[in-house]
Amino acid sequence: MENGLILFNIGKLYTVKELSKKMDDIEVLENAYIIIEDGVIVAIGEGEVPSKYIKITSKFIDVDGKIVTPGFIDSHTHLVHGGSRENEFLDKINGVPYLEILKRGGGILSTVKATRESSEEELLKKAKKSLLKMLSYGVTTIEAKSGYGLDLETEKKQLRINKKLDLEQDITIVSTYMGAHALPKEYENDRNGYLELVKQVAKEVRKEGLAEFFDVFCEEGVFSYEESKKLFLRAKELGYKLRIHADEIENIKGAQLAAELGMLSADHLMAVDDDGIEKIAKAGVIANILPATSFSLGKNYAPVKKMIEKGVEIALSSDYNPGSCPSENLQFVMQLAALKLKMKPNEILKAVTLNAAKSLGLDKEIGSLEIGKKGDLVILDAKNLEYILYHFAVNHTLKVFKDGRLVYMKG
Ligand code: NIG
Ligand code: FE
Repeated sequence: MENGLILFNIGKLYTVKELSKKMDDIEVLENAYIIIEDGVIVAIGEGEVPSKYIKITSKFIDVDGKIVTPGFIDSHTHLVHGGSRENEFLDKINGVPYLEILKRGGGILSTVKATRESSEEELLKKAKKSLLKMLSYGVTTIEAKSGYGLDLETEKKQLRINKKLDLEQDITIVSTYMGAHALPKEYENDRNGYLELVKQVAKEVRKEGLAEFFDVFCEEGVFSYEESKKLFLRAKELGYKLRIHADEIENIKGAQLAAELGMLSADHLMAVDDDGIEKIAKAGVIANILPATSFSLGKNYAPVKKMIEKGVEIALSSDYNPGSCPSENLQFVMQLAALKLKMKPNEILKAVTLNAAKSLGLDKEIGSLEIGKKGDLVILDAKNLEYILYHFAVNHTLKVFKDGRLVYMKG
């Protein structure tokens, strides 16, 4: 660990410290410095670096008037999977609906086949490549789901890879068991049999400490409200924290279910209704919005403005997966949030840092630049946040630090 890392001459340092629950309420320091010791932030301020922090071993980094933000957090990904789905791409752009492709045995089910057929080493290598891309965009923590195995062995294989990668590369990985992602072919005529299997696998996964979250694709033609609810209740008993794919394509009251069960996040919400918005606002469920999925599916965007008005706290994530969002680029997600969701720059930054951390239950450790938190941060090649959003579809990262260690540098 680098002792006494001192970043100085920071044009604007976005601390994203929570001043209130308001989405755009964040703090910006000018001509700032930040000091990290043993991986943890020990000082932060404006102007000259106080001499008491300067040691012989200190490493100085001149930020040259650029901006510094907390490391970005991608709180919804399907990182580990086999194969890719460019073979369905033409159908997709010619208007064949996402759920129709799934019904034909393609979509998620074709990735299930590829994932079952891939070795652990192949999956690990592919996922590692994606993680390096994420890191290059300034991402320092992600959530990663299983759900392309749909059987005990393959689900565990995916989750073991998450664990391994969490240990051997620089991005922190939070694991989610998502056996209820689709009904596998072999259970086509036995829905109840599969729901039972999900509960059994959930128990084993939990016992082995392979996942802390539980997720369901609660969607018309996938898992109904009632089926989802039963699974979530069992998962809760097993000690899982809950998140949900809710009202992505059709509205089947996924948001209401998230509120009822006090989930940490309800994700997608493109088809959420007013009642759902009010319920998650009241229950304090984070709305995890995935605009690159709307972009890629050519669908409508979630009604974020309305949610913010109603007091819902928003997170933004990539949804990186081989079907509805084959891109790891969280900066593009932020740019879409500005261009398509009309979110303000401060709201967007909070959504990919502090609120994403909250949705993972990690907001005491990461998500903002405050004394005592981890030294996860990004130096971006800009003088202000607006520029990052305006100059879209390029990577603005100059350097990424994880626990105060330089882990990525442009070029
Ligand atoms: O979040 N909706 C379900 N799961 C993913 C897509 C998975 C896939 O198409 O492979 C999503 O959009
Ligand atoms: Fe997803």
